[in-house]
Amino acid sequence: MSRGPRRLLGLCLLLLLLLLLPGAPGHQGGARPGERAAEPGAVWPSFQGMKERLKAAGAVSRRYWALFRCQVWPKDCEDNEAAAWEPLGWKLPLLGQQYLDILTMWYCSFQDCCDSGDCRISNNFTGLESDLSVRLHGQHLAQELVMRAVRGYIETPLPDKALALSFHGWSGTGKNFVARMLAENLYRDGLRSDCVKVFITMFHFPHPKYVDLYKERLASQIRETQQRCHQTLFIFDEAEKLHPELLEALGPHLERGAPTAGTLRTIFLFLSNLGGNIINEAVLNLLKAGQSREEITMEHLEPLLQAEIMASTESGFGHSRLVKENLIDFFIPFLPLEYRHVRLCARDAFLSQELLYTEEALEEIAKMMVYVPKEEQLFSSQGCKSISQRINYFLP
Ligand SMILES: *[C@@H]1O[C@H](CO)[C@@H](O)[C@H](O)[C@H]1NC(C)=O
Repeated sequence: MSRGPRRLLGLCLLLLLLLLLPGAPGHQGGARPGERAAEPGAVWPSFQGMKERLKAAGAVSRRYWALFRCQVWPKDCEDNEAAAWEPLGWKLPLLGQQYLDILTMWYCSFQDCCDSGDCRISNNFTGLESDLSVRLHGQHLAQELVMRAVRGYIETPLPDKALALSFHGWSGTGKNFVARMLAENLYRDGLRSDCVKVFITMFHFPHPKYVDLYKERLASQIRETQQRCHQTLFIFDEAEKLHPELLEALGPHLERGAPTAGTLRTIFLFLSNLGGNIINEAVLNLLKAGQSREEITMEHLEPLLQAEIMASTESGFGHSRLVKENLIDFFIPFLPLEYRHVRLCARDAFLSQELLYTEEALEEIAKMMVYVPKEEQLFSSQGCKSISQRINYFLP
């Protein structure tokens, strides 16, 4: 809805509210005391009363409207506008203020009315930075790259392309975790936001024989989400299992100058375990060569990762035009997690449930994971997966 009709609707609602509420100021304060007494035998007393109430409500609702507007669109609300009605000596009664708050809350629950222009979109970079550095463990590359890529994209005034990030690594290394952090910090309602859509391949597109149906469904869901929001986020979990035709269908959305259905920014996240083995191998070799984990850079990993993705035969992802035509902006490696990281995940799991923990419990939990390869026993084969279930064994 454009702003004009929306305001009209708001005004009508306010009028209705004021007319219906017996305690509303328009009812009591509007009519002067002598007026009604002057027409004792009027034929239409109730009609006359109604007319007065309407007149009063009209005047009051204009002020309500001004206040409501200030609450909803603070930027529209000039100081002089506020001053315009103040000299009338009219004070908003407590009851009126409550109605105003309720109405504002209700209105804002489905309409855009924040400083950013749309309160469904929060773009909290402070929160994102803090989550990535405090809650994510052992992923210095993902931490830095995700922050830089997403922030850079969202701060570009008029991007001509969607942002596409591809997360790679073993399960439990934090790919889903980071996707959720992005949703939670960029959108007020996180993954449940109507600007965010999550597709899990084996859940949403399980049967290859229905691929035509899936293609249609995917296209319409992308279009509808983009029509609803000017900044959208699409997450594809298990991207390595996406049908080649679905990957193909995604191509046009990732191209420069793609049809956007009115949306300004679109972010695509692809989560897969593709290249996980090569990342682990490279990290293991670097560690064995005496490099510290935090010194590992993208230059060490990116060429290997890209080559591995393009060479992989068991998945269509590397052969899709998303990869071949460079439609993915960043390939982000998630490193295998070590004992100390699993320990930190266990600590977080206790803290998030507000439970007390002992150092021994953390160690016990970290020891419950399987570590590979056989000789070095360096990396948790499941990363930090299902740590939160394991803490149950150590509750008093
Ligand atoms: C951003 O996130 C931080 C940390 O989660 C939080 O303290 C802060 O209130 C958030 N800011 C906004 C504007 O929501």
